[in-house]
Amino acid sequence: MKKLACLLLAAALAALLAGCGGAPVQTPPAPDAAPSASPAETPAGEPETTPASEPAGEPDIGPEVPGPEARSVVLVAYFSATGTTRGVAGRIAALTGADLAEIIPAQPYTDEDLNYSDRTTRASAEQNDPDARPEIASDISLEGYTTLYLGYPIWWGQAPRIMSTFVESHDFSGMTVVPFCTSGSSDIGLSDDTLAGQAGSGTWLQGRRFAADVSDDTLREWIQENGGAEKTLKLAVGDTELAVEWEENASVEALRALVKDGPLTVSMSPYGGFEQVGPLGASLPRNDVQTETQAGDIVLYSGDQLVIFYGTNSWAYTRLGRIVSAEDLSELLGNGGVTVTLTLG
Ligand SMILES: Cc1cc2nc3c(=O)[nH]c(=O)nc-3n(C[C@H](O)[C@H](O)[C@H](O)COP(=O)(O)O)c2cc1C
Repeated sequence: MKKLACLLLAAALAALLAGCGGAPVQTPPAPDAAPSASPAETPAGEPETTPASEPAGEPDIGPEVPGPEARSVVLVAYFSATGTTRGVAGRIAALTGADLAEIIPAQPYTDEDLNYSDRTTRASAEQNDPDARPEIASDISLEGYTTLYLGYPIWWGQAPRIMSTFVESHDFSGMTVVPFCTSGSSDIGLSDDTLAGQAGSGTWLQGRRFAADVSDDTLREWIQENGGAEKTLKLAVGDTELAVEWEENASVEALRALVKDGPLTVSMSPYGGFEQVGPLGASLPRNDVQTETQAGDIVLYSGDQLVIFYGTNSWAYTRLGRIVSAEDLSELLGNGGVTVTLTLG
């Protein structure tokens, strides 16, 4: 009875929003509801090209910045005096779907401060003083994050002293810290170990030095060797685990981050005789392109809906992966609602 009331309330809300021209609402038929009169459910032969769930003409927007409710559990924090580390940090954040935060000095470094041919200038003087702790302009909260990529330039073979200020003023307990640096040519040396010692908490992984023009492939490989991405993202429909070839994109990285701390269960409903659709409960970066889907395709719809196809359709989606198991997907997905579980293992 309670369920019926909920269904009626959901239907009324959907009708109200549609009437108001509000945000599009996906209203797949409830598994136990009366047969729907929606065109996608009619035996019309050809599958729908635009499911009723799709807002006609919705603009194709770029990757989303997650709101507080959809905050990633991965953070990339970096200090950069001349922009090189900033560039690499931004690319790591894009590849991992992580949040990005800059460690900004309270007193910015001028060109003269950074002139390393003069050992008396500010940066050189700081590096010569192991106790120097340049002030940071504003605090960066690490609350809620489980992985931190920590980036900095190499100054005289070491991390700039402001990195010591940062690590000594935070508690990294329960976090995995993945250091990285940029430099003219020097390797990361002992700078990552020194910062780990100064931090005194957290699990610090071996750091890595990158050139300004490091390729995305190299970064992707390194990300997969570290952080949360070394595990396989697994998908099960009910009790049936399915082999999936996942895409290598920011959306899948964000999906991995979403399930890093535990399984994600998605209640899916059949739609249109060709797909199962359900809410992820968070927005992922999206890069929708017009797609002719095939049975087995897994896509992101509207940034926050997981869709698995057991038939074909044509619409703008972000590809997430493809089921490569031999299971009969019509049998598995075409008989009412299913529960899909995503895990890292
Ligand atoms: C004060 C100072 C000292 C530096 N020392 C080194 C060094 O020891 N080895 C090296 O390869 N590059 C050194 N560099 C070059 C920087 O590490 C390199 O340009 C880095 O990518 C700059 O990063 P950023 O643009 O994020 O600040 C130094 C640069 C400065 C300003």
